[in-house]
Amino acid sequence: MKVEPAGALVGHIAVPGDKSISHRAVLIGALCEGETTVHGFGRSADTESTVNAVRALGVTVDDLADDELVVHGVGLRGLQQPDGPIDCGNAGTLARLLAGILAGQRGRFELTGDESLRSRPMDRIAEPLTRMGARVTTDPLVVEGSDVLKGIEYALPVASAQVKSAVLLAGLNADGTTTVAEPAATRDHTELMLAAAGARVRRRPSSVSLEAAARLELGEVTVPGDFSAAAPFLVAATLLSGSELTIHDVGLNPRRTGLLDVLERMGARITVFNRRKAAGEWIGDIEVHSSELTAADVGAEEVPRLVDELPLFALAAAGARGDSHLTGAAELRVKETDRIETVTNGLRALGIRIRARDDGFDVRGVPARPTGGRMSSDGDHRVAMLAAVAGVTSREGVEVGDADAVAISFPGFFDLLDSVSRR
Ligand code: S3P
Repeated sequence: MKVEPAGALVGHIAVPGDKSISHRAVLIGALCEGETTVHGFGRSADTESTVNAVRALGVTVDDLADDELVVHGVGLRGLQQPDGPIDCGNAGTLARLLAGILAGQRGRFELTGDESLRSRPMDRIAEPLTRMGARVTTDPLVVEGSDVLKGIEYALPVASAQVKSAVLLAGLNADGTTTVAEPAATRDHTELMLAAAGARVRRRPSSVSLEAAARLELGEVTVPGDFSAAAPFLVAATLLSGSELTIHDVGLNPRRTGLLDVLERMGARITVFNRRKAAGEWIGDIEVHSSELTAADVGAEEVPRLVDELPLFALAAAGARGDSHLTGAAELRVKETDRIETVTNGLRALGIRIRARDDGFDVRGVPARPTGGRMSSDGDHRVAMLAAVAGVTSREGVEVGDADAVAISFPGFFDLLDSVSRR
């Protein structure tokens, strides 16, 4: 698909429901007593994989609307072993969180997925879940559940919300207390939702503990707009002079909004208003005006707060005055693609001066539009959206290869981008 240059981004938009929270609403809803109604569900290929996975495990899910569904919970130990493998598609969050849940269920469960997912590291969950008493093999990923799991104290070797969540979800059905310590603060949607469902969760600055639960009940979940889906629009509007864009009802959980802080350091003009809390999560409207940017550095401590937005940081840095550096982000190498490679190779082909490092990248910025050209997503949704933002901010446009990958998280992305692009 060819994305043509735009003059500016102008208008008011809303983005789909948060993907991380949508996955969790279905998975935790499945473990609840009674019905959980999910409003603002972010429907995408990834979250559809989650709905299909819990259905395969014997859970009824009624689709009420594109963004609304009802999960009929089966209780903390009520999932049933399906006949064949469970297909997690492209969704790492699903595979890892579900493995944690299945560790405490009766039966043997095989989790599979597309080529990208099957090549992603799963020892990171196998290790702690095995310590808790489950039998877990990787390649293929098979979880044999146990009804005598025990709580553990686990220090995460990498800052990963998916691994933290897998251990906490297993902890629901484990004896005693389960504690996870993290080297840097990662997204906390699992602990917030479990607390809302009645679990005993104790949070400290760099760790979280959970007691075995007797029952969970959510009732209703309202999912905020996905900050990671808003992010391409924030960067495009910042870079395109004359832009004036408002994005309504976006999730503003501080562990997700690192890109706002980085863009502000770079000189962006972004205002948050109508800040309010819904079901334990911050939400608000974001107004962005174009502005000139200066270079910035991002390091390990900050990385988890913008891990999925780091490809977009590369493009913002390319349009900023001076040299920007990303370090401490080796985790990018084990995302849906090796994002250090896909981002640096893709952007270089458009005329941007960017170089890969083992754990990040270096960008030489110039406050001018990149030339444009061709950039493939390699099947990675975040890279496809990056290529599209590069397209609207370029001189000649960008031919986005494998553009359909956006459907992994944001099926309406290209239409929405087009609707606010002034030529
Ligand atoms: C996610 C956590 C992050 C993030 C992913 C979603 C989650 O992964 O990159 O897109 O929903 O927990 P890691 O926990 O592996 O860093």
